[in-house]
Amino acid sequence: MNNIINALQKRYATKKFNADFKLSAEQEQQIQDIIRLTPSSMGIQPYEVVFVKEPGLKKSLMAAAYNQGQVESSAMTIVFAIGDPIEKGWFDRQAELLIKERHMPREKAESYMNGFKSSFEGMSKAARLEWAGRQAYIALGSLLTSLAMEGLDACPMEGFDRATFDDILNLGERGLSSLVILTVGQRSPEDQTQYEAKVRKSSRELFSYALSQTPEWN
Ligand SMILES: Cc1cc2nc3c(=O)[nH]c(=O)nc-3n(C[C@H](O)[C@H](O)[C@H](O)COP(=O)(O)O)c2cc1C
Repeated sequence: MNNIINALQKRYATKKFNADFKLSAEQEQQIQDIIRLTPSSMGIQPYEVVFVKEPGLKKSLMAAAYNQGQVESSAMTIVFAIGDPIEKGWFDRQAELLIKERHMPREKAESYMNGFKSSFEGMSKAARLEWAGRQAYIALGSLLTSLAMEGLDACPMEGFDRATFDDILNLGERGLSSLVILTVGQRSPEDQTQYEAKVRKSSRELFSYALSQTPEWN
């Protein structure tokens, strides 16, 4: 795993990208593959992902992200948008996919997904969206590490006005709302953040091993 750890040491939350850098078509396809292959609870993938490359749109999004420059200088800003799995009909959709891709008998696929669907119907919409958000963050994390492995730079960002993003990208009318974004590109040598040390909790603070018995000391 050393190559992964090296990549994680090198990556950092990029504040300024080389504005001339463009992703190749292959890199964009790979980004889509990584997101598609990310696991989610019950396989529902309760989100959609919007790619923003147009300079004018990135500029408007930057203004809604408290003028954080990495949105405009990124080669692509990736917006993870969540939806309510009940309102979006995603449980029924998943049943159809199981029938099509896994050749599951219709009755089995429907009863399997209907079980999950009815327990989600008993939850508040806010709780369903919270669950959807947790799934979206798995895709975010998976992509973040994958980009680092490929030597691409990125900044995950929650510092933006979600309602304004939704307006700019017309997400509301699609039953979606923006949750978190990932700006992607190539770091600018002028970005001082890359030269700063990593700040992390110590292993002692972060990890412990659970023991079923108190060890006996002789
Ligand atoms: C979910 C999430 C949201 C973040 N939001 C922002 C943001 O809005 N603006 C920003 O400059 N950095 C943002 N960051 C970057 C973090 O501050 C950064 O990852 C953290 O300090 C660790 O530093 P490193 O990523 O450079 O190792 C965010 C990170 C995460 C994971």
